[in-house]
Amino acid sequence: MVLAMADHETPDTRRGGGHDHVPVLAAEVASVFAATDGGTYVDLTVGLGGHAALLLDAHPGLRLVGIDRDRDALAIAAERLARFGSRVSLHHARSDGLPAVLDAAGADDVTAVLADLGVSSPQVDRPERGFSYRSDRDGPLDMRMDQTRGRTAADLLAEVDEDALVRALRDLADEPHARRVARALVEAEPRTTSELAEAVRGALPAARRRRGDPAKRVFQAVRILVNDEIGTLDRTLDLALDALVPGGRLAVISFHSVEDRMVKTRFRAAADGGCTCPEGLPCVCGAEPTHRLLRRKPWVADDAERAANPRASSARLRAVEALAPGETP
Ligand SMILES: C[S@@+](CC[C@H](N)C(=O)[O-])C[C@H]1O[C@@H](n2cnc3c(N)ncnc32)[C@H](O)[C@@H]1O
Repeated sequence: MVLAMADHETPDTRRGGGHDHVPVLAAEVASVFAATDGGTYVDLTVGLGGHAALLLDAHPGLRLVGIDRDRDALAIAAERLARFGSRVSLHHARSDGLPAVLDAAGADDVTAVLADLGVSSPQVDRPERGFSYRSDRDGPLDMRMDQTRGRTAADLLAEVDEDALVRALRDLADEPHARRVARALVEAEPRTTSELAEAVRGALPAARRRRGDPAKRVFQAVRILVNDEIGTLDRTLDLALDALVPGGRLAVISFHSVEDRMVKTRFRAAADGGCTCPEGLPCVCGAEPTHRLLRRKPWVADDAERAANPRASSARLRAVEALAPGETP
C-alpha cells in the first residue's frame, strides 16, 4: 500500500533548469548534523548539491564524499560545490557502491551520511530523460537515473513478466486495477512517455481519472523498478550503518511509504539489536544495539515548507547515531 507519493512535477520543480532546487527538510537535516564538526560527510544522493552546500558551509571541518548515479547531476553538483575546493570529492556510483567509493576517496572517518532518495528536478524536467507523465514533456521512455547502464523503462516493459508487473503496481503504485493496467502496458509496448501515459489512462474507467491522473503513480512504480530502488536501498542501509564511526549519524529522507517502512524497520533493529524480550522489561536476551534512534517518529515538513514546495509533503526524515562498542542507547 502506498501512503505517501512524491510529486516531483510541481511549479517549483519546473524551475530546476536554473538549479534553484530547494533542499527538502533543510533545517531538520541541519539539526541532525548540528554537532558534527569534522571527518567525512558522505552524501549518497548528492544531486544538485543543495544539502551538501548547506552542511559544508555550516561545518568548515567537514569534507564531502558526494555520490550520484546520474552523471548530469554530478556535473551540476561539481559546479555548485566548486567553491569548497579540495574539501569535495564527487563519485559516479550507486549508493550501494559505498565501500569502494570510500576506499577510492581514502575516507575511514565517516561522521555523517545523508541519503535524499528519489529523483531530482532536472531529471523530471528534461523530456529526454523519460521520467515525466505530462503530455507536454513527451520523450523516449528511459527513466534510468544512470544512463550509462541498465535497461530503459521501454525495454523493461517489453520483457517484464505480467504477474511481476501486477505485483509492482499493487505494492508501489497502490493501483486497484493493477491487473488491467499491467495487461494494457504489456500489450501496448510503449516506447515513449506519452504512449505509456495513454496506455494507463486508456486502461482505466473515466471515473477513476477524475481522482487525478492515474499515470502519475504508475510512472513512479515503473521508475522504481527500472532503477531497482527498493533493492538498492536495502543494500545501502546496511552499508551506511556500518560505515559510521561511533557518534556518527545517518539520515535518510524517503518519499514513498515502502521506502520509509524499510528505513524505520532497519533503524529500529539497529537500535534494539534484535532484542526479543517483552516490551517494557529489561533486556536479558543478549541483544547488542549498534545505533541509537534520534527520534521515534520521522521529521516531516511544516506547513510553510509544504506550501512553498509541494514535493516536501511526502518527505519523511529518519536518523540514527552509531554507538561505541558496549555503549547502550
Ligand atoms: C532528490 S535528489 C537529491 C537532491 C540533493 N539532496 C540536493 O539537495 O540537491 C536525488 C538524487 O539522488 C540520485 N540517486 C537516487 N538514488 C540513488 C542511488 N541509489 N545511488 C546514487 N544516486 C542516487 C538521483 O540521481 C538524484 O540526482
